[in-house]
Amino acid sequence: MNRTAFCSAMLCCMLIATTVCLAQKKSPTHPQTKLSGIIQDNFADGAKQYKVLKATLPPDRFPKTYFPQTGKSETSNSGWWCSGFYPGTLLYLYEQTGDTALYNEAVRTLGILQKEQFNTGTHDLGFMMYCSFGNANRIKPSPEYKEILLNSAKSLSTRFNPTVGCIKSWDSKNPSDFLVIIDNMMNLELLFEETKATGDSSFYKIAVTHANTTMKNHFRPDYSSYHVLNYDVNTGGVKEKKTAQGFANESAWARGQAWGLYGYTVCYRETKDVRYLQQAKRIAEFILKNPNLPADKIPYWDFNAPDIPNALRDASAAAIMASALIELSQYTKGKEAKGYMQIAETIIRNLSTPTYKAAEGTNGGFILQHGVGHKPANSEVDVPLTYGDYYFIEACKRYKDLVK
Ligand code: GLY
Repeated sequence: MNRTAFCSAMLCCMLIATTVCLAQKKSPTHPQTKLSGIIQDNFADGAKQYKVLKATLPPDRFPKTYFPQTGKSETSNSGWWCSGFYPGTLLYLYEQTGDTALYNEAVRTLGILQKEQFNTGTHDLGFMMYCSFGNANRIKPSPEYKEILLNSAKSLSTRFNPTVGCIKSWDSKNPSDFLVIIDNMMNLELLFEETKATGDSSFYKIAVTHANTTMKNHFRPDYSSYHVLNYDVNTGGVKEKKTAQGFANESAWARGQAWGLYGYTVCYRETKDVRYLQQAKRIAEFILKNPNLPADKIPYWDFNAPDIPNALRDASAAAIMASALIELSQYTKGKEAKGYMQIAETIIRNLSTPTYKAAEGTNGGFILQHGVGHKPANSEVDVPLTYGDYYFIEACKRYKDLVK
């Protein structure tokens, strides 16, 4: 071998060794970097879309949805369960783009939302106040935000009943009814945070009691969950197991499964109780091994919808699942962790295609299309939803934070 050939061979070997070394440095659960470009585009495109959304909004209102057939938008007041998602998404997008117009719009709407800290008529305070003020306080901590979060946790706690061991979701005309929906698992994060912020363990105790009661009663043997449980307020016994937003009492409403997955993943993060990790993994198994989960991993609105494979997909459930699976992958190892991360990647990748991600200037300014709000009530069907956008951008952020 002449000198030039020898040098080329050496250079080649060094290059291969460096590549192998770099590849090995990544843990097997480390997400592939190739999704990063798509995610950066999602932040930039999301920021543009939310400026379109902002321009459509009356001053004292919050976005709710948009109807593509009529071109009409629907808005809500601050008491609607979704009011925190708009400022929350703006704050995530501000963090990723540095665009202060998004931050200023978020702060403007927080001013309208803040009165809900004293709202004791809803269980949705976690969604409303933690997705909004929780993110605002994380980005720029302030005594005012801390006070609002504490008051919100106090208001939410008033709905806890020790006989039932749950926070009441919905009020009922029958005074012995005590209605709890699986969605309520999402409100516990606010309570965990307030114990950390104040040292008051009563919030933590309420959260774990609610999680334990729900784990005992809300799930079927296959770890799918009912949507609504009706407890007897006097005895704590279960009177009914049923649905409100799913196809049938015994069906698996897709977003409900996503709320459970996300909720128990948070419970494990906050308590390190392995029973919650097991629960999250079993819910994930129900979802991911379900024969009715399509290959692109965007679920039908209900796993038992009668018209599968023609049933509508729910992009919001997919976004929640992706965000939860990214976190769950960090609490598991090897093949399991890699599997969760791969599904999350598939979901993000598919939600980022024109099938789900709206073209700039369309979709009333929302980022994702094709969410299903309340199919049985024929309300918000196949439309954009604020929580679809929020958890999609959160999933993108979580993914980006891991590949840093
Ligand atoms: N009830 C909250 C939801 O639609 O997921």
